Amino acid sequence: MSARVFAIANQKGGTGKTTLSMNFAAGLAKRGRVLVIDADPQGSAGQWSSLAADDRQFPVSVIAIGGNLAREAQRFGQDYDFLVLDCPPTLETEAMSLAMSVADTVLVPVLPSPVDLWASIRLVDAIEQAKMRNRGLTAHIVVNQLEPRSALSHAMQQALEEFDIPALKNGLRRRAIYRNAAIEGVSVYCMGKRGAAAAEEIDEIVKEVL
Ligand SMILES: Nc1ncnc2c1ncn2[C@@H]1O[C@H](COP(=O)(O)OP(=O)(O)O)[C@@H](O)[C@H]1O
Ligand SMILES: [Mg+2]
Repeated sequence: MSARVFAIANQKGGTGKTTLSMNFAAGLAKRGRVLVIDADPQGSAGQWSSLAADDRQFPVSVIAIGGNLAREAQRFGQDYDFLVLDCPPTLETEAMSLAMSVADTVLVPVLPSPVDLWASIRLVDAIEQAKMRNRGLTAHIVVNQLEPRSALSHAMQQALEEFDIPALKNGLRRRAIYRNAAIEGVSVYCMGKRGAAAAEEIDEIVKEVL
C-alpha cells in the first residue's frame, strides 16, 4: 500500500470527526490524491459530499464501506496518496480496531473541556493495544471548537499535559463556517473569504502532521 492512512477517531459522537475528516481531506488534496472512507454507519461523510449542488464539487472522493475496513483500505491504498478514515463513534465494533491496524496516524478530535478529553480515555488503551501490532502508529489529539479569542482554560491545558496522547499545536476554532460548509456539502476551502481563516487552520494541521 502506498497511501498514508489517517484514522479520525473518537468513540464519542459530536466531537468533530466528520468535520475534521472532510476539511482535512480537502487540505490534503492540494498535496496528492485523497480518498475519504466513511466507516461510520451513519454515513455523514458520504451524505456531505453528495450535497454540493453547484460546480464546487467536493474535491475528494468519498466512499462508504460496510465490509472489512482494513482489506478495503489496503486495496484503495494502491491508487491514492492519502486515505482518511472517518471512524464510527464506538470502540465496540470491529471497524475501529481494523482502522487502527492499517492507519499510520490517528487523529482524535476532542472538545476543549477536560471532561470531554477524559471521556476518550478508553480510546487511549485501544490505541496502545493497536501499537503492539502496528508499530509505526502515531496518535494526536486535535482540540476542536476552541472558543474564539479565549485561551484554553488552565484545567484543559493541564489535562492535555497529563493525557497520554500528545495534542497538536494547532486546533480548530468554533466557527459557523464549518457548519455552513457542511450544509452546502463543501469544505471551508470553497467558502471564499469567509472560509479563509478556517482554511488556514486546516492548512496548519496538514503541515503539522505531514
Ligand atoms: N470547529 C467547529 N465550529 C463550529 N461547528 C463545528 C465545529 N466542529 C464541528 N462542528 C459542528 O458540530 C457538529 C458535530 O460535528 P461532527 O463533525 O459531525 O462530529 P462527529 O462526526 O464526531 O459526530 C456538527 O454540526 C458540526 O457542523
Ligand atoms: Mg461523524
